[in-house]
Amino acid sequence: MMAALLEVRGLTRVFGGIRAVDSLSFDAHEGGITGLIGPNGAGKTTVFNLITGVYRPTAGTVCLAGGRLTGCRPDDVVRAGVARTFQNIRLFARRTCLENVTTPILARASYGPIAAVLRTPSARSAERAAREKAFAIMEELGIERFASFQASNLPYGMQRKLEIARALACSPKVLLLDEPAAGMNDAETHELGETIKRALEDFGVTILLIEHHINLVLDICTHVVVMERGALLAHGTPGDIRENPAVVEAYLGRRRRDRA
Ligand SMILES: Nc1ncnc2c1ncn2[C@@H]1O[C@H](COP(=O)(O)OP(=O)(O)OP(=O)(O)O)[C@@H](O)[C@H]1O
Ligand SMILES: [Mg+2]
Repeated sequence: MMAALLEVRGLTRVFGGIRAVDSLSFDAHEGGITGLIGPNGAGKTTVFNLITGVYRPTAGTVCLAGGRLTGCRPDDVVRAGVARTFQNIRLFARRTCLENVTTPILARASYGPIAAVLRTPSARSAERAAREKAFAIMEELGIERFASFQASNLPYGMQRKLEIARALACSPKVLLLDEPAAGMNDAETHELGETIKRALEDFGVTILLIEHHINLVLDICTHVVVMERGALLAHGTPGDIRENPAVVEAYLGRRRRDRA
């Protein structure tokens, strides 16, 4: 049995009387891809915002490898080993793709701001190393040909991959992906799934994946957590989820109608 790397216990967030997340508990196991699914407004993104310190929980805890993340500021959560992408892409739009990926690496580098301003030899060699590492991450994701493009000029699907590259540049233990396949067609979505699996192996990250492309979730996830109105509706293997009547009714059925 794999160990639980990320433990969510009794997580609750109330917004003006609405329980956006309601006593939610689940584990993300080390080396696995845990899918987080549910209808629009189920509370999935709020879970990410609670894990990453954007919002404080009304109740409950989040632990990473046994250490509490709850109460940590977003920067500290990244330092502890949790990086994310955003449902609404957040890149430095006017910087190059390579700069977008280099920035988080340099932010973690050990030399200080004075060395950076004076461009000392140690700062320059750290910058070179950061650019090389950023380029290597972009190669892993198959987007290195865009390295010198301005981020805002990339096709939408490539911007989503660039966001993943930027998150991986934080050297996370846990990578949170919020709808990475949004706006992609079936072929692009399948290809993204392969990229996510490769990232898991090559970077040794544990992944928590929010996605509405249900086939992607059922294909690549090791475990699936289903939310409805903030609460846990079901969890299990993709096989369990496919067969679960409550899930089919509350989620899969509704998605089919959406598509029709
Ligand atoms: N900052 C906020 N203030 C007030 N209500 C909020 C806030 N953030 C989220 N909510 C509410 O919490 C509920 C859950 O929203 P959330 O964005 O987490 O859903 P979601 O599952 O990610 O949905 P989607 O699939 O559409 O992205 C919604 O009712 C939403 O309006
Ligand atoms: Mg969302």
